[in-house]
Amino acid sequence: MSYGLLKGKKGIIFGALNSQSIAWKVAEKCHEEGAEFILSNAPIAMRMGELNELAEKTGSEVIGADATSMEDLEKLFDAAIAKFGKLDFILHSIGMSVNVRKGKHYTQMNYEWLKTGWDISAVSFHKVMRVAWDKECMNDWGSILALTYIAAQRTFPDYNDMSDNKSYLESIARTFGYYWGEKSKVRVNTISQSPTNTTAGSGVKGFGGFFGYANDMSPLGNATADECADYCVMMFSDLTRKVTMQNLFHDGGFSSTGVSQKVMDIYEEMSK
Ligand code: NAI
Repeated sequence: MSYGLLKGKKGIIFGALNSQSIAWKVAEKCHEEGAEFILSNAPIAMRMGELNELAEKTGSEVIGADATSMEDLEKLFDAAIAKFGKLDFILHSIGMSVNVRKGKHYTQMNYEWLKTGWDISAVSFHKVMRVAWDKECMNDWGSILALTYIAAQRTFPDYNDMSDNKSYLESIARTFGYYWGEKSKVRVNTISQSPTNTTAGSGVKGFGGFFGYANDMSPLGNATADECADYCVMMFSDLTRKVTMQNLFHDGGFSSTGVSQKVMDIYEEMSK
C-alpha cells in the first residue's frame, strides 16, 4: 500500500546489487511512495549486478561511482544536480571488508585490507556527505541515512573488522549530522538492521548461526529487508524531521533483550 510519503522528493540510492540487496528494496519502496532517484553502485558491481532491471522498474537513471573516489562522487552529484536541482534524500547502503572476504581472523588482521574496507564501509559515508556539502545540493529538511549493524556496540565473532568500520560509520553520522543540522536542517542517521540474507550479509562466516540466533533472541523476530525499506521510507519522509544524529535499531527488539525464553529453553534442554 502506498501513502505518497515521498511525493516530489529526489535522491540518490547507493548499494543496490541484486534483488536481495536492502538498497534494492528501498528503491522499490521509494518509487512506490512517489520519489525519483538515481541509482549508483561501484562500476565493477554494476557489471556483475542486475541494476538495469531495477532502473527500468523504477524509471531511474544508473550512474556508476566508486564511493571511495571523490572524483567519481563529484561526477555523480553533478549529474544528480543537473537532473534534479537539489536533493532530499541519500541512502548509503555500502559495505565490504577484505579481511572478511579473505577469511583473515580479526586477531591476525591485514592492515592494508583493513584500510580498504574502512574506506569503503565507513569513510565513503563522509565522502558522500562532503561532496553533497560542498555542492550545497541538499534541500532544507533533507534526510541522509546509512545502514549499520549492532556489532558496532557488541562483539560478534567473525564480524571481524566490519565491527570497527560500523562504529566509525555511526560516529560519522553523529558528527557530520551536527554540522548538517546547523547548516541546512538536514538530518543524518544510521539504521542498525537485523541480520539479512544478502550478498554482503551471507559473506560473513557463520551467517546462518547469526541469523537464527538473532531471530530467536528478538521478540518480534528478525526485521526483513522489506521492513528495513519501510523504515528508510519513513526516515526520508517529512514525518521524521527532528530525528537526527541517531543510531536507530531496526531489529525486532534484539538490542534490548538480555536473553529470550526460546534461547533459555535450548540451554535448559542441554543441561538435562
Ligand atoms: P549487498 O551486498 O547487497 O550491498 C552492499 C553494496 O555495497 C553492494 O551493492 C556493493 O556493490 C556495494 N559496494 C561495495 N564496494 C563499493 C564501492 N567501493 N563503491 C560503491 N559501492 C560499493 O548487501 P546488503 O546487506 O544489502 O548491504 C547493505 C548495507 O547494509 C551494508 O552497509 C551492510 O553492512 C548493511 N547491513 C547488512 C546487514 C545484513 O545482514 N545483510 C545487517 C546490517 C547492516
